[in-house]
Amino acid sequence: MEKAPPHVVIFPFPLLGHINSMLRLADLLCLAGIHVTFLNTDHAHHRFLRSNPNLLAGRPGLLFRKISDGLQVDESRRPARFTDLFFSLRSVTKPLLRAMLAGSGGRPGSDDTVTCIVVDGLLTFAIDVADELGIPIFIFRTASPCSFWTFFCGPALAAGGEFPFEEDNMDRPIRGVPGMEAFLRRRDLPSFFRVNQLSDVHVQRILTATKDTTRASCLILNTFEDIDGPILSHIRAHCPTTYAIGPLHAHLQSRLTESNDSPPTDFTPSSISFLTEDRSCMTWLDSQPHKSVLYISFGSIAAATGDQLLEFWHGVVNSQTRFLWVMRPDVVDGMGQIPAELREATDERGRLVGWAPQVDVLAHTAVSGFLTHSGWNSTLESVSAGVPMICWPFFADQHINSRFVEEVWKVGLDMKDRCDRRTVEMMIRELMEGKREELVKSTARIADLAKRSVSQGGSSYMSFEKLLEDIRSINSGPHPDGGK
Ligand code: UDX
Repeated sequence: MEKAPPHVVIFPFPLLGHINSMLRLADLLCLAGIHVTFLNTDHAHHRFLRSNPNLLAGRPGLLFRKISDGLQVDESRRPARFTDLFFSLRSVTKPLLRAMLAGSGGRPGSDDTVTCIVVDGLLTFAIDVADELGIPIFIFRTASPCSFWTFFCGPALAAGGEFPFEEDNMDRPIRGVPGMEAFLRRRDLPSFFRVNQLSDVHVQRILTATKDTTRASCLILNTFEDIDGPILSHIRAHCPTTYAIGPLHAHLQSRLTESNDSPPTDFTPSSISFLTEDRSCMTWLDSQPHKSVLYISFGSIAAATGDQLLEFWHGVVNSQTRFLWVMRPDVVDGMGQIPAELREATDERGRLVGWAPQVDVLAHTAVSGFLTHSGWNSTLESVSAGVPMICWPFFADQHINSRFVEEVWKVGLDMKDRCDRRTVEMMIRELMEGKREELVKSTARIADLAKRSVSQGGSSYMSFEKLLEDIRSINSGPHPDGGK
């Protein structure tokens, strides 16, 4: 009897930036004929379905399942409560996951046994479950490889006295991260390092999760060799089987285009969100001059204070540029009165939306720059579209991503830790005028490399082929690395 296709269970951390990239991986696997069970916490699943009623359409090999995160329905899942969320995922969700995987792996009534699990790099408790059940486990770290490598070096930074530090001299160089000695400063380290106690619960959690990665069979990263080759070499010294298969949104698009069967009509890889997309901004963009609009978005969770947002808004308006701004309902913590001059200028040359189809916006010919919080998905999406950035990082990997954007890849300007209206205005003018030519040139070069990497024969394309081969070989016999 013919063997059933491999069956992969994918389990992301319940944040949009994580779910987005892991769903793109799920779609890629399904296109290759692999069965995928995509496991969301019930809270994330309901938010998702509410904003994407067509989510299930056009994805025949994909089954969505939900699992409790252990919190009450009405409890907050905002970043301020992450400690509670982590605790309950570990104490409540872990045994539920074990029971699910020990049964049908989330496909009730199916005889598909689970070939392997792909779990978010923040949910490494799943490694214990996988080991117990003898199921190979792949870790998918959705944030940037440069942040992952920095966390990997966290214990060495502590041993060398470079961390923790007082926040008085943030420009002091950090020498203890191999490959980054020439440009890394304290202020560029991921925000978790901005603590004065090594015992801080958040930093300990992320350092432990990073160390745990080496216990998994393999590591998957959303990047490509041409931008992250040197960092990947360092990572591979510790995690030898590391697949670099990004940029995932572009990879998925490339495989869909290449696919002999035309993509299903309801299948919309770019419109995955927790909020309802406002596509009217695309019509607005159609009416704007070529390369005239600055796109502004701070991702799915970052929130500014009311004062910061107003200062920012003044800077944008004073720059005289046209702009499209994603103003999520929760993007600001306590907003006062909006001055009349800001409202008038926004009516005149701006457009505010609650949520935009970002990948499509970045590909629009009217867009010439992206003022971003430097989330990893946004960074890759901007780089792939050849749109230079201004970076205003908020937290997590964003501070190091923005350093790489300016210093290493030279595809934007890093505005971190400064948010006064004069700086914002000056940065926008540099991006749109002063440094435009050089930035556009280097961004176009990297966009081309990104495109090649996900095209047939490119590095990410081939790395994904290897991932498929390894998953199929687990399905048909012993695991390639000896069933570690
Ligand atoms: C978070 C972290 O900030 C990020 O650094 C980490 O790597 C993953 O988790 P988030 O803050 O949401 O993610 O940012 P980002 O990684 O950029 O993801 C945002 C996603 O939402 C992108 O895929 C972007 O295309 C999408 N988006 C954002 C929209 O589709 N529309 C919008 O209006 C805004």
